[in-house]
Amino acid sequence: MPEKKTPIIIGSDHAAYDLKEKVKALLMERGIDVEDAGCYNEDSVDYPDFGIKVASMVSAGKFERGILMCGTGIGMSMVANKFPHVRAALCTDLFSSIMSKRHNNSNILVLGARVVGDILALEIVKAWLETPFEGGRHQRRLDKFDRIDAAMTD
Ligand code: RB5
Repeated sequence: MPEKKTPIIIGSDHAAYDLKEKVKALLMERGIDVEDAGCYNEDSVDYPDFGIKVASMVSAGKFERGILMCGTGIGMSMVANKFPHVRAALCTDLFSSIMSKRHNNSNILVLGARVVGDILALEIVKAWLETPFEGGRHQRRLDKFDRIDAAMTD
């Protein structure tokens, strides 16, 4: 199956600024349009501001997928998964990255720049880009997430 080329929105805090720049370069090399929601340097910022920017766009369907990065990835995944229709997966290994697409159809990949080295982080991104969703019984399970979204918006 050919790799999807739909645009990706990315964001990070200062702890992952350097990794974000490397992820951006990788996406651009692959011919994927990138919307960079910041941050734009290593000055200290608050990760929720950037998590909210990216997750709200994915939640609203303005972007099909996004990538978020902070020191551990924990704060960004907490923020992102508060948004309806967001399935953010914090991945520190290749297997999790692959399975987060195959079984969970993750629409935001989250990375912890202080947890994984740059080389592994970029391999995690490549695996996430290249792996398709399997659908079938996994779609049935994801459909059950809609109940959560409905309860949250009632
Ligand atoms: C910033 O120091 C750090 O707390 C942040 O990058 C992240 O790890 C939060 O979850």
